[in-house]
Amino acid sequence: NANIPQDKALDNSLALMQEGYLFIKNRVSRYQSDLFEARLLGQKVICMSGREAAQLFYDPELFQRKGAAPKRIQKSLFGVNAIQTMDGQKHLHRKLLFMSLMTPDHEKQLADMVATEWRHAQKRWKDKEKVVLFEEAERVLCRAACDWAVIPLAESELDERAQDFTAMVDAFGAVGPRHWKGRRARTRAEEWIKDIIEKVRGEKIVVEKDTALYQLAFYKDDEGNRLDAHMAAVELINVLRPIVAIATFITFAALALYEYPAYREKLKDDEAFREMFVQEVRRYYPFGPFLGARVKKPFTWKQCDFKEGQLVLLDMYGTNHDPRLWERPEEFNPERFRNWSGDPFAFIPQGGGEPEKGHRCPGEGITIEVMKATVDFLVHLRYEVPEQDVQYSMNRMPTLPNSGFVIKPLH
Ligand code: HEM
Repeated sequence: NANIPQDKALDNSLALMQEGYLFIKNRVSRYQSDLFEARLLGQKVICMSGREAAQLFYDPELFQRKGAAPKRIQKSLFGVNAIQTMDGQKHLHRKLLFMSLMTPDHEKQLADMVATEWRHAQKRWKDKEKVVLFEEAERVLCRAACDWAVIPLAESELDERAQDFTAMVDAFGAVGPRHWKGRRARTRAEEWIKDIIEKVRGEKIVVEKDTALYQLAFYKDDEGNRLDAHMAAVELINVLRPIVAIATFITFAALALYEYPAYREKLKDDEAFREMFVQEVRRYYPFGPFLGARVKKPFTWKQCDFKEGQLVLLDMYGTNHDPRLWERPEEFNPERFRNWSGDPFAFIPQGGGEPEKGHRCPGEGITIEVMKATVDFLVHLRYEVPEQDVQYSMNRMPTLPNSGFVIKPLH
């Protein structure tokens, strides 16, 4: 590919570890090009960023997910052969199952459960000097997610189950112990949920139809076959785990409230502004760094030859901070969402395009509602923020404020 910039390094895997969320963005700005080629983990990878790149990436004629996610990511984060790795009709059929769980009523129901759990948590804080907000959010969300999906969960199990969901997400950019921790967490969670699926199928647990547990247990694929119990468990975990992962955005929302205290008052009674604030948290702070897909059939774009089977990475973080799309992108400013166009390829913290037609996250509505309910709780809570390290790394993926955000509730 002589027509696009080639990163000269023999292998960029180390640079990716060192630059993390900024790896693609740094090079896109350096080369003044939306795309460049680099060697990563022994293969030639095209990295691209921006609105047009996002639109291209979501063309199902040109890209496929089969073979894109490394097995190590499937064994920790996604689950092996789960929805993230599927293509075409089979993918769309299964995607509709996920979409059907995310109706506005269901989103509201979960957000209300989260609000209730925050009030319970607040009562538990009565005899505590300080709490780590990330850990509290993990517990609140795990409890609410399981209640919402009608998964039985004893209070004694809550901490471990919540930590296992976090460990799967935390394994993303890891090698060594953090990766293995995520794999063990997945094995435990899959055994737990598979057993519940089997009990529901055997009518040892009776659940209502309009619930995530029932829908996953009895879903039939495009050929009319039920998923085997293990795959049903993997996909149910694809609902539960990301709900718990909202803890990361919640922790960043708390950081934003701390760094920009002027917004607190306005957030108390202005619901429209609360949504703008939540959107800006999702845009501004780093969570998902990039996405991967493989070229389905050869084509040329911006003078670059995309070869069949080649791995292509789309820069999520950089697109959300692209100066062509966002005025002063490095400023935290919820007002930018007041008259926002809603462009599905410019704002991609949870993927781009339309969720029912491609791989975009089906859980954005849930994420927004849960964050809004939590911000509402936080702005009405009286607490101090003691001295601590709230910095977050830009090369650890996923990242979080170092302290997990400690608060001292005032009674
Ligand atoms: C897919 C991010 C919350 C369920 C994705 C993708 C991203 C993402 C980047 C991949 C998009 C792509 O491959 O093109 C996030 C973030 C969340 C979040 C940052 C906030 C914590 C949720 C929630 C749910 C959920 C709450 C469910 C309740 C899924 C599923 C997929 C997915 C099932 C796979 C979709 C597919 O492959 O078609 N998410 N998500 N996510 N997300 Fe989320």
